[in-house]
This record gives sequence, C-alpha cells and structure tokens, in this order.
Amino acid sequence: MARLILICALLVPNVCALQVQLRQGTVRGLDVETPFGRTAAFLGVPYAQPPVGALRFAAPRPPLFSDGIYNATEKKFSCPGPEISIGKWVVADFGEQDEDCLYLNIWAPANASNLPVVLYIHGGIFVAGSGGWFPFDGTRLAPRADIVYITMNMRLGVLGFINLPVLSDTNVGLLDIVRAVHWVHENAEAFGGNPEQLTLWGQSAGAISIDFLLKSDAISGLVRRAILEGGSAGLAKFLLEFDGEYESRQLAYTLGCSSAEPDGEAHDRELLSCLREVPWQDIIKTRSEGGTIDKVSIQPFIDGKLLKKDVVASPHIDPSVEELFVVSNELEAFLILEGLVKKLYETNDITSIDWGTILKISFKVVLRLPYEKSAEIIRRYIPDDVIDESRLSKELREIEIQRGIASMFTDSFFYCPAEFRSATAGDRGVRVSRGEFHFRPDFSFVPKWASMSHAEEIALMHGNLDLYKPGKGLSGAMMNSFVNVSRSDYDFSDVIVKWIGDFFHGR
Ligand SMILES: *[C@@H]1O[C@H](CO)[C@@H](O)[C@H](O)[C@H]1NC(C)=O
Ligand SMILES: *[C@@H]1O[C@H](CO)[C@@H](O)[C@H](O)[C@H]1NC(C)=O
Ligand SMILES: *[C@@H]1O[C@H](CO)[C@@H](O)[C@H](O)[C@H]1NC(C)=O
Repeated sequence: MARLILICALLVPNVCALQVQLRQGTVRGLDVETPFGRTAAFLGVPYAQPPVGALRFAAPRPPLFSDGIYNATEKKFSCPGPEISIGKWVVADFGEQDEDCLYLNIWAPANASNLPVVLYIHGGIFVAGSGGWFPFDGTRLAPRADIVYITMNMRLGVLGFINLPVLSDTNVGLLDIVRAVHWVHENAEAFGGNPEQLTLWGQSAGAISIDFLLKSDAISGLVRRAILEGGSAGLAKFLLEFDGEYESRQLAYTLGCSSAEPDGEAHDRELLSCLREVPWQDIIKTRSEGGTIDKVSIQPFIDGKLLKKDVVASPHIDPSVEELFVVSNELEAFLILEGLVKKLYETNDITSIDWGTILKISFKVVLRLPYEKSAEIIRRYIPDDVIDESRLSKELREIEIQRGIASMFTDSFFYCPAEFRSATAGDRGVRVSRGEFHFRPDFSFVPKWASMSHAEEIALMHGNLDLYKPGKGLSGAMMNSFVNVSRSDYDFSDVIVKWIGDFFHGR
C-alpha cells in the first residue's frame, strides 16, 4: 500500500494508526491485528456532504475538502429509521442514529496493493440497517479474502425516498449508493485496491438496489462483478406498486406542515420547506408509531429517471458486468412471513379459519393473479389433504400450512426472480453462478423445519460467526444470548468464504 504510512504504535495493543492521502484530505485509520493477518481499517469516512438542512431530500454532493487530518477510527452513526423487528426472534440494534450518516467503512489487508475491491450494500427493507452492523464487519474478511472491503450507509425510509412531485431529486437513498460507487472507484487505489476489479455485493434491499442500478446507466462501466444475495429487482415488485406520495403528504400533515395555498406547486413547495425544518427525530418518531406496513410505505418508487416503469421485468444488465453470483435460501420467505402469519395465528386458529380464502385473496392482491389461477397455485403448495383434519394432527397441520405459505412466497419473491435474473444476465454473456443455501446453521433462531430463512447466511458468508457469541459483537450485537455456533457452522462458513474470495478474484 504505497501511499499508506504507518505512523505509530498507539495505546491499544495490536492497533496502530495509519494515514492515507485522498483528494478530499488526509484520513487517519487503524492498523489491527487479526488471526488472519493485519488489517488497515478506515471507519466512518465521509463519501458525501452531510444531507442536512437544505440538503435533506437532495441528491448527495461530493464531500468537501478538509485541511486537517480526518480521524477515521470509529464507525459513524446509522442513518435514521424506525425500529423494525422481523419475526419474533430478530431484533437488530444498529447503534445510534443521526441524519449526518453518509459514511463508509474500509478494511484492507496490511500492505495491500492492486487488490479486488468489494462494496457491500446492507439490507433492511429500505427503512433500517447500517453498514456498521457487526455481521458485515470487514476486519477479518479483508485479510481472509485478500480484498479491499467496504460497507456503507445510505438514506432510508422518508429521508431517502419521500415522494412529492415538486422534488427534483428522487430516490436519493439509491443515489447515495451511486455516489458511493463513484467515490470507491475514485479512491480505491489509495487503499491498495484496483478500481477496475470492483464487486458490488448486496443482501435483500441491498441486492434489490444493485439490480436496480445495473439495469440503469447510473454506474455504467464501473462494476466488474455483482453478488445478489437474498433479493433482486423482482423482490421489489410489490413495493413498486405504491409510489408513497399519499403517505408523504400524510406525513407532512401529521408533522404539522400545512399550507395556506390551495393544492399545486406552490402548496407543495411550502410543504417541502416545512418538512426540511422538522427535526429528523420527529419524522422517525412519527414513522415508528404505525405498524410495519406504515413504516415501510415510503420506499423506492418508479420516478421515470433512475427507476423506469419496466425495472422489474427489464432483462438489461450493465455491459461492464462480467460475473454475477445470485444466491437465495431454501425457505427464504419464512422469516418475513413469520410476523404476519403469527399475527393471524395469535388471533385465529390457523387450521380452522378459512385459509384457502385468505391465501387466494392475498396472493391475488400481491401477485396480481386472477382468483382462479391463485386458487390453483395454492393447491400445489397446500394440498387438500393437509387441510383435512382427519389425516394430520393439529401441530403437523400448522407446520404444513406455514411451510406451504412460506414456500409459495419464497418462490414468488426469491426463487423465481433469482432464476429470472440469472437467465437474463446469462443471455447477455455474463458468467452466472447460481446458488441456494440448504444449510440449517446451528445458530439459527427459526424452527428446524423452516430450513434456511432470509438473512441467515450473512454472517456465514462474511466469516463472522465468532461475533455471534454473547459479548463479542463488534458494534450493535443482535439481541440474542442463546445463539449456539457449532463446529459445522464454522466449517461451512470457511468453505463459503473461500468460494466467495475466489469469486472476487475472478478465479
Ligand atoms: C485525531 O486523533 C488524534 C490522536 O488521537 C488527536 O490528537 C486529534 O486531536 C484528533 N483530531 C480530531 C480532529 O479529532
Ligand atoms: C508491510 O510493510 C512494512 C514496511 O515495508 C513491513 O515492515 C511489514 O512487515 C509489512 N507487513 C506485512 C503484514 O506484510
Ligand atoms: C449448544 O450446542 C451444544 C452442542 O451441540 C449443545 O450441547 C447445547 O445444548 C447447545 N446449547 C444451546 C443453548 O442450544
């Protein structure tokens, strides 16, 4: 790493300070010893100006130059979002939030030079999550895979995806990713990376975002490889049915932003300038009060610019992409449906209420299928004999019904879109690897019969299982003290990390 200077041994054992010269200024990082070699870590590096004040809801601007030395020695705040729990098991703590949140974390092996660069885009249904979350931490992944590994924050929910027609910048949460990709391309070399060997790796909403961007020309020519993990544009089909404009206006009124003007552009301008003055904490508080559906109702929407009407069905992929890895899990939808199913389950007897009817209607609404067609599909996943009380015990019927629902939604939102993206990219000459996890980790918190669910592969793929141990989480540990990581979990993780490392290197 030619431009990296090791400046001192600090107070903390195994940690020294490093400096790197960027166009935006001098950045000081840490030199950390790991079981896999030393890592240079630059935490909380700004890739854009703070999106506050007049820049709230605006496209990200390049960061300003700084004369002094910038201490990149601590992860920064997460972007604000309401607390979301998925199912009953997973409550994630993403640490403290602030509107000033457009930062990256960068990890590189000691003396890195010309290494592949990986930018990871976190999930969290576009309203939650943080690049600083412990399962994505790169301290050990960077030396293990011999890569420059980077995580990022991007604006979420209202602050990233508000929709008022008067706004000239739209989907700014996605534009943050575009900005970060450009930043990484411009600066990777200073950290020992080769910007021509850039991989975008995203999970869930992160994977959707990458698929969106590769279908546009926003990052054209910059990306060599991509990993779509637990999501692709097809997963967003349902959320793209709504544009969030009604909810954005509702929010303005709830926050006391009203206008003396009748409807129209002047009226909306007033709403917008009022919304720019409300403390972000009030916005998040308002969003936190509703149920999950309310929290997620302001998300990416078709704006005719970055997101065109055909973004889900489009087979396009940026021609600079040479390799694609598309990965999903065996019963991926389980964790997502768990909350919904459990809610019905608590108030009703799942085996006695008219599940067929409820499912046919929800399937018809979600997938826009004719009623008769959805009835036929449902019979494939939940055969009539499962419903038949004389054949199975109540417990087994409950499981079979839940499994049937989860399989149906896994196919609709994960499996089939993953197959579609793989096939369309393959048709365009991209080398595609398609994977599906059928591994049930021992640290899993879903029932055994549910196999592998959404997001359970994250720590496995990053080789960060140690961090699941109580007290080991680097920042904001998952609130589970009962996780039990087994030898076979570690062994499997080693295989995955090796495989994915080869992928980054084009081996
Ligand atoms: C950066 O860290 C160094 C060493 O701890 C400290 O002396 C300096 O004041 C810090 N700079 C800023 C701007 O906080
Ligand atoms: C990195 O380079 C420095 C200076 O050449 C050298 O002292 C150090 O041993 C190297 N570290 C590793 C891990 O290769
Ligand atoms: C953890 O795994 C070990 C070995 O498989 C087992 O004996 C133990 O009961 C497990 N603990 C929990 C809390 O699941």
